[in-house]
Amino acid sequence: MNGDAPANGADAGISRSMSGEAVPRPVLKVSLGPVSLPNPVLTASGTFGYGDEEPELTGMLGLGGIVTKTVTLEPRAGNAPPRIWETPAGMLNSIGLQNVGVDRFLTEKLPALASLGVPVIVSVGGRRAEEYVETVRRLQGAPGITAFEINVSCPNVKEGGLEFCQVPSAAAGVVEAVRKVTRLPLWAKLSPNVTSLGTVARAVAEAGADGVTVANTFVGLCIDIRTRRSRLSAGSGGLSGPAIRPLALARVRDAVRAVTIPVVGCGGITTAEDALEFLIVGARAVQIGTASFRDPRAARGVVEGIEAFLRAEGLTSVEALIGTYREEV
Ligand SMILES: Cc1cc2nc3c(=O)[nH]c(=O)nc-3n(C[C@H](O)[C@H](O)[C@H](O)COP(=O)(O)O)c2cc1C
Repeated sequence: MNGDAPANGADAGISRSMSGEAVPRPVLKVSLGPVSLPNPVLTASGTFGYGDEEPELTGMLGLGGIVTKTVTLEPRAGNAPPRIWETPAGMLNSIGLQNVGVDRFLTEKLPALASLGVPVIVSVGGRRAEEYVETVRRLQGAPGITAFEINVSCPNVKEGGLEFCQVPSAAAGVVEAVRKVTRLPLWAKLSPNVTSLGTVARAVAEAGADGVTVANTFVGLCIDIRTRRSRLSAGSGGLSGPAIRPLALARVRDAVRAVTIPVVGCGGITTAEDALEFLIVGARAVQIGTASFRDPRAARGVVEGIEAFLRAEGLTSVEALIGTYREEV
């Protein structure tokens, strides 16, 4: 997979040390239960389209995986504009799950995506559990899907978003229902807008999730002081970008403490150093979101930086670093 991408962990080749001596390349490959990835760096849902905007670039990035824009049963136009507002060190969005719907995704998007040779994780959303079930049922026989990410955490829709994630049994109900119609691995994408993320993580793990993605955006609000109205037509939005990184990292730590299934970290990751913090705290993979808007090659820089760090630390694999956080008590 992507054998020509220099930083791809699938090729545990040879590289040169500073003194010119041949040293084995650190292994970047990770496994997350049933999911095996060439490296731990994925693009986050909704921030990389369907990987089809610049397929050549996407193929060259040496990604560990692509998480698609959330797909729903019916096509959705999303919320009316304005739906993006830049904030200090981040952005507020209220896109509202705009997407082409599952049928067009299957015919127009998935074949090209699957041909890139990068693991594809299809994000699935819905208003009710039955919609998730039907969407997954239509998708699950299609070639090229590595796993599903069940989005029970969108803050920007009236139904099927936060109310799922804020009630652990509701989030678990969606996972349990979807579990019955597919054998493919399921990750549940959780919301940070809860009192106890660990409780929700435990509930979805017990319902059959193979992993949890932590986390979606934080609910935020920006107001135009002249009109006294929200900057976004939908009212509040979801905050992402560097501003949320320490908050997301603490949520990831909470999830790692709460469950034994793999945790995928997401929130404000821009550089390899940021990603390393998440891996050290116990995430087995990370997702890059907002950073890709500024630089579509951001994820590749993160992969390369992780490899350089492992080499500098004398570590032979990324696995040797995951979960090495020394928590003082
Ligand atoms: C414009 C935009 C659209 C997004 N759309 C989705 C989506 O469709 N599904 C989803 O699960 N998350 C969506 N997200 C959330 C991201 O996947 C990610 O969880 C969040 O932005 C935090 O990561 P970041 O700080 O690296 O961007 C979206 C985020 C942004 C900024």
